[in-house]
Amino acid sequence: MRMEVEAEMNIGRIAVIGGGTMGNGIAQVAAQAGKEVRLIDPSAAALEKAVTRIERNLDRKIDKQLIDVAKRDATLARIQTYESLEAGVENSDLVVEAVPEVPNLKYSIFEELDRITGSETILASNTSSISITEIAARTDRPEQVIGMHFMNPVPVMALVEVIRGLATSDETTKLTLDLAQELGKTPVEVNDFPGFVSNRVLMPMINEAVFALMEGVARPEAIDDIMKLGMNHPMGPLELADLIGLDTCLNILQVLHRELGDDRYRPCPLLRKYVAAGWLGRKASRGFYVYT
Ligand code: CAA
Repeated sequence: MRMEVEAEMNIGRIAVIGGGTMGNGIAQVAAQAGKEVRLIDPSAAALEKAVTRIERNLDRKIDKQLIDVAKRDATLARIQTYESLEAGVENSDLVVEAVPEVPNLKYSIFEELDRITGSETILASNTSSISITEIAARTDRPEQVIGMHFMNPVPVMALVEVIRGLATSDETTKLTLDLAQELGKTPVEVNDFPGFVSNRVLMPMINEAVFALMEGVARPEAIDDIMKLGMNHPMGPLELADLIGLDTCLNILQVLHRELGDDRYRPCPLLRKYVAAGWLGRKASRGFYVYT
């Protein structure tokens, strides 16, 4: 019976938890696709910053004549902000969690979501490396828990990596794949293993670039130029690490190292040092490069 209800479900209202870089990007693309969006963050300042950023992104689209003012206003009108999790997720068809990569934080949010959302609500995580199976096991609805891993910057990047936990149902997977497409993205389905595919492949490259820097093989600009000009990457690995956030890169490498138990994933000491110094990349105005 439940399967029939789920198969007919239409995802119209989406709650996004976390007003940071990923959360505001997800809120923007969902609102652009005509979804009713509730953006939730306990910090009023974070919500204000998120909405300002979305407004700025939409204004850039107006400047490029991709949308008109009416479309911008309609998109913004579909985004409501909430400081309360409980009020924000009420009547949501799907919740996307996009809070920092701290396992206990995600676990406690999913435990709470399981209690406060309707029984049909799909619970998705934008985690970049934490096990979906383990997150799902914190709920009484593991078949409705799934990974929906957007890439940064969300409005631009085509991919959504859709991660099936061990118990994720076919219905939940189908609804999530369809939703990603509705949001203008290309979903690619993978199974739940540490780092999934994206970060299992990307993070060792970034880490190796940091080792090359630490060992004095080349300057940051040279390392990045080699990968851009020689391999046609849009950004070099160090620039990209600064975009992602060095703390996030370190967190992901620690998960890969711990969960896969192989020293090839050991985080470079220089990466640890930068994080310890608070040189976290663009968001801190300083990482491998200085941003003004
Ligand atoms: N928000 C919204 N739009 C943005 C943006 C942002 N933060 N940054 C750039 N854009 C838009 C620009 O407005 C521009 O739009 P138009 O094409 O409509 O003009 C377009 O993106 C291209 O921007 P630019 O011309 O300024 O710069 P660019 O050509 O150098 O492209 C880039 C910028 C898209 C970021 C490109 O460098 C790129 O693709 N870099 C690689 C990004 C990447 O690998 N992301 C994945 C990171 S890993 C991850 O997210 C997952 C994880 O778990 C860690």
